Amino acid sequence: MRHMAVIAIVLAICTTSLAWSQDYDQLIEDAGNKMYASEYEAALELYRRAFEIGDGGLNDLFNAACAAARTADPDAAFMYLNRAIADGFIERHWFEEDEDLVSLHTDDRWNDLLAALDARLDAVAASFPEAHPAGPVVDLPEPRLLSDVSVEEALQSRRSVRTYMDLPLSLAEVSQLLWAAYGLNKPIENAPDFLRGGLRTAPSAGALYPLEVYLVARNVTGLASGIYLYRSETHQLITLVGVDRWQDVSDAGFNQPHFETAAAAIVYSAVFERSTQKYGDRGRERYVCMDLGHSAENVYLQGYALKIGTCAIGAFSDLALKQVVRMTKAEEPLYIMPLGKVE
Ligand SMILES: Cc1cc2nc3c(=O)[nH]c(=O)nc-3n(C[C@H](O)[C@H](O)[C@H](O)COP(=O)(O)O)c2cc1C
Repeated sequence: MRHMAVIAIVLAICTTSLAWSQDYDQLIEDAGNKMYASEYEAALELYRRAFEIGDGGLNDLFNAACAAARTADPDAAFMYLNRAIADGFIERHWFEEDEDLVSLHTDDRWNDLLAALDARLDAVAASFPEAHPAGPVVDLPEPRLLSDVSVEEALQSRRSVRTYMDLPLSLAEVSQLLWAAYGLNKPIENAPDFLRGGLRTAPSAGALYPLEVYLVARNVTGLASGIYLYRSETHQLITLVGVDRWQDVSDAGFNQPHFETAAAAIVYSAVFERSTQKYGDRGRERYVCMDLGHSAENVYLQGYALKIGTCAIGAFSDLALKQVVRMTKAEEPLYIMPLGKVE
């Protein structure tokens, strides 16, 4: 069972199908509580009853396998893990790191299980494109440079917000947030290629700008629901997916509560190579994530000034997010920042 704090949230709210009954959710929640109390037999029984009603979400199947492994029922554990893999489970490190599963490591079936998982991971890795497709372009309104809210006030009052009002964001608001995140504040004509247009609102080690910034639109006035790549150079959005993929993004983010009410989300990835080719390990271990922090804080502060709440989310399924957002092979996902109006 995943013991990270986020799994406590997941256990409470994770569902992959809206059609599942309340009973299913209740049984899963009860099973989770039994797991936390180390009452594994009771937990396994509750998972069994839940799966008689519902199909079993990926996390639920994984946790049921953990309960089975703890109660020395390897047949059931392997059955649930194989089902999870067949249904699309791709978190290899969960398999390797979860202490609940240790009793399975010496079972002959363990290596077959990992091989099945690796085959799935290879297929997923092969599916990532080398470059983004050239989808329809959306021009964003020019960012404003004046505000009634001082930087000091934003610094004093900024908070991570996880619940938002049931209101759309405007295209102007989204434009402002994206500009704050990674927009140009000093365009440079005939700039060297690595600058990609000029200097930006967020500092970057060596001005190498390793980040990519995406917008997942769910409820943005004047913008179709879908997934967009923010192009800093021209302050435009490139359409990557022209249909609503909110639920998939939420699933990738373990259905943390933010996704229920947010109107959009900024998703960050990084092409680490842009930094490591100059800085080596220091680029990977320090600079890229420092760059990310600068940019994300801009979103917090700009959001505060616009009465738009956000929260940096670092707990998600890397591969699932990379897939759903349509990242390229070279990118690694880093943050999800849900966005929504607040009082
Ligand atoms: C690297 C990082 C990862 C985070 N991941 C999550 C997350 O997955 N879910 C969440 O609700 N909050 C997440 N947070 C937000 C923190 O919980 C929040 O910043 C912290 O509780 C302090 O609250 P404040 O931002 O309101 O000052 C993350 C913050 C950081 C910096």
